[in-house]
Amino acid sequence: MYAITGITGKVGGALARELLATGRPVRAVVRDATRAEAWAERGCEIATAFMEDPSSLAAAFEGATGVFILPPSEFDPEPGFPEARTVIEAVSAALLKARPDKVVCLSTIGAQADEVNLLTQRTLMEQALREMPMPVTFLRPAWFMENAAWDVASASDGGVIASYLQPLDKPVPMVATADVGRVAAELLQQTWRGVRVVELEGPRRAAPNDLAAALAGVLRRPVRAEVVERQTWEALFRTQGMKHPMPRMRMLDGFNEGWIGFESSSDEVLRGRVELETVLGELVSRRI
Ligand SMILES: NC(=O)c1ccc[n+]([C@@H]2O[C@H](COP(=O)([O-])OP(=O)(O)OC[C@H]3O[C@@H](n4cnc5c(N)ncnc54)[C@H](OP(=O)(O)O)[C@@H]3O)[C@@H](O)[C@H]2O)c1
Repeated sequence: MYAITGITGKVGGALARELLATGRPVRAVVRDATRAEAWAERGCEIATAFMEDPSSLAAAFEGATGVFILPPSEFDPEPGFPEARTVIEAVSAALLKARPDKVVCLSTIGAQADEVNLLTQRTLMEQALREMPMPVTFLRPAWFMENAAWDVASASDGGVIASYLQPLDKPVPMVATADVGRVAAELLQQTWRGVRVVELEGPRRAAPNDLAAALAGVLRRPVRAEVVERQTWEALFRTQGMKHPMPRMRMLDGFNEGWIGFESSSDEVLRGRVELETVLGELVSRRI
């Protein structure tokens, strides 16, 4: 039985659907039991646990062949990343108690970077889980194509997307969450020893200009990408309610300056199948 955290989200949901499609038993780990009904109807066991709570997590992982860890996103962390550290401590304690046969943990492109940034939260998770006694795989996907959900309204209504990724013609590795879930399902069913890192991107890289062109195709209207100047970010993010914009700004710097990227050579990075246009089509049809 595979215990899947984050199952009500994009990656966890895609992963669970892959496992269920091939008849594998799944335990849906949810924090809100009312959100588990759809998974119970598909034949999943249900366990309720918060990623911050070691005892409920340990119970949710008990007897599992494999556990999938989806660290919750925290876009505005307090200095020192206390939110991520609480999750890391809880997950580590739960894995040590439940001792599942193996673990796949969702990490990120750039988790190996030395500079402190938003993704340091995953660097810390990787450091902690490297000490676990069972085999652990870190799946490091590229920038999610689904992040373009933030751009659909402005592209559709105004023909513009505001780009923090720059320059506008610099290709960025991107991947669909459906591919992330599919690959995570494959990894969970494999046998390996020790710690491994698997990096994943989509079929082709996309620059912000390519994203705008793809949105233009899907929306059937002109769309252009526009740079959001670096010196405006901090004030802008604070206006949007962020209290600690620096980690997010440094993450964007990392992509733009090139110190956030894949660790392995390009022929070792796995390639997904889902094209950007497919994801954008789904995002646009969801908005209509
Ligand atoms: N966006 C990117 O470009 C990118 C790139 C690489 C890696 N990642 C990683 O991808 C992950 C996000 O994946 P996603 O897009 O599939 O997420 P998502 O769709 O936002 O779903 C998040 C899931 O986590 C659950 N969750 C959140 N906080 C929780 C908590 N405290 N306790 C228990 N469950 C909790 C949510 O449950 P509810 O339904 O109850 O809210 C939901 O199932 C993050 O770890 C991020 O670092 C993202």
